[in-house]
Amino acid sequence: MHLAFDLIGELEKALRAAADAAGLEPGSFSPGVRTSDPRHGDFQANGVLAAAKRAGKPPQPIAKAVVAQLSGDILESFEVAVAGPGFINFSAKPAMLLAWLTAHRSSTELAAGASAAHRGETWVVDYSSPNAAKQMHVGHLRSAVIGEAVSRLLAFTGARVVRDNHIGDWGTQYGKLIWACKRHLDEEAVARDPIAEFERLYKVGNTASEADPKVMEEARNELVKLQAGDPENLALWQRINTASLAAFQLIYERLGIHFDETLGESFYNDKVTRVYTELAQGGISSQSDGAQVVFHPEHPRFKTQPMIVRKSDGAANYATTDLATILYRLEHFHADCILYVVDKRQGDHFEQLFLTAGKWFAKTGRKVPKLVHVDFGTVLGEDGKPLKTRTGDNIKLKDLLDEASERAYLLVTEKSPDFPEEERRQIAEIVGTGSVQYADLSQNRASDYLFSWDKMISLDGNTAAYLLYALARIRSIFRRHGLSCGDPAAEAGADVFQTPGEIALARKLVKFSDTLRLATETLCPHFLCLYLYELAGEFSSFYNADKVIVEDPVVRARRLLLCARTLLILETGLELLGLKTLERM
Ligand code: ARG
Repeated sequence: MHLAFDLIGELEKALRAAADAAGLEPGSFSPGVRTSDPRHGDFQANGVLAAAKRAGKPPQPIAKAVVAQLSGDILESFEVAVAGPGFINFSAKPAMLLAWLTAHRSSTELAAGASAAHRGETWVVDYSSPNAAKQMHVGHLRSAVIGEAVSRLLAFTGARVVRDNHIGDWGTQYGKLIWACKRHLDEEAVARDPIAEFERLYKVGNTASEADPKVMEEARNELVKLQAGDPENLALWQRINTASLAAFQLIYERLGIHFDETLGESFYNDKVTRVYTELAQGGISSQSDGAQVVFHPEHPRFKTQPMIVRKSDGAANYATTDLATILYRLEHFHADCILYVVDKRQGDHFEQLFLTAGKWFAKTGRKVPKLVHVDFGTVLGEDGKPLKTRTGDNIKLKDLLDEASERAYLLVTEKSPDFPEEERRQIAEIVGTGSVQYADLSQNRASDYLFSWDKMISLDGNTAAYLLYALARIRSIFRRHGLSCGDPAAEAGADVFQTPGEIALARKLVKFSDTLRLATETLCPHFLCLYLYELAGEFSSFYNADKVIVEDPVVRARRLLLCARTLLILETGLELLGLKTLERM
């Protein structure tokens, strides 16, 4: 008996075949398999209900007829029962659990199984994408963390992923900034902390131009000169961007983020003309008060609120660049799908962007890639307002991660005071950063969430520390007994699971495939977090109830196998979320 990695996919295929064999009207049956509450088996199919409705017949007999046609393979692997008004419930048999776990003993085997989902597809993921000349702050956390996890999930499920950091490196802010750089730049401050100095200079430029229309005019001229390619302004601009990227890179390293491309807005400067021409020629845009705009008459708001694709002064804007970017991603990367991991407050922008790109590409006979705004809510402080420092400033991401590491150090020291200081520091950096990442990922991304140090850096509850600890504990079981995890010799001779603890854990383990599918289809990493948390809980129950290192070699082998697979899936899951793990904690 061997079942593929994706058990739900396997069951759906088998059910479709059985429905055909049972003579159901072709196309009337879509199996709809989901994992279910373990009391009702492991998986449940609800497709019979709709099919029965369409046929105008009672569902129970139809369900029974479908079950009677299920292949021998499926019946050998699952107890199958018809329940309620035509649900089909599947409970994995212990032998099937063992077969699945034996077939998936390494991350390569897990990945091979998972990779069927998106094989051959190219997904561009646009994430992090901060604006240059400013330090990253807490508002930049979610895009970076969620974007990285989503990219890893997609790559694991077989997609070719292009991770693209669409830096905001070309905007009106440069006029004021360059104006201030030319008059107030402090070289010593740049050497100390370039971004802090550029941030200060931007404020200087902004205040001065707001106070004095003459300065405003001068700043505008600096921008025009930059856009016209003036060498002095270009050099300054380059200097600002290089320093910004270096500062961002320090944060990305701590968060385990790697980009394939860093194509900022400026990269598209010479690519916007095609946007203007094609939109105008295709009759998609119109002129309004000197600007080139796109209305969407079919939309309740965008029929009167247009998307401006070229400002009345002839300049491009955020929307123009984003349109040029889609074309580039289609032509250059052959993107099948483009994800934008951006705050939900930009929802209108992306809705208009996708509508416009759809019409534009349809008109020009291009394939329209799937465009998705992977949106997320705001990080809130204890007062329920967007998280800020006590003085009302944005909290810098660097300070936030430093504080996480400090707080984790207290936790680690309390737990393991005898570890050398240096090791406690290293553990604390991984636990601290991981806690911030995990607290973010474990929330449904669409909602706002409350930032709480006490909840996130804790060994209790659905936290990074809890999972990292559970994982380190399993690693130590193997270490203590001189075994290497996943060693076939240690698992040889394992027989089917018997105790309730073993069976419950095995049932949870095989649902990893379904969790991956769910998290990837919805682009919601929190499903994976919840699963890992529950898995760690099942492991604890098993470990408390069933001794692993026992005399009987058969019992010992199957329990070691369960330990090894729990470890493998915890490692794989945390890696997919972008967390680093620990040998001990
Ligand atoms: N730089 C933008 C901001 O900070 C985010 C860019 C998101 N990506 C995009 N292609 N629009 O708001």
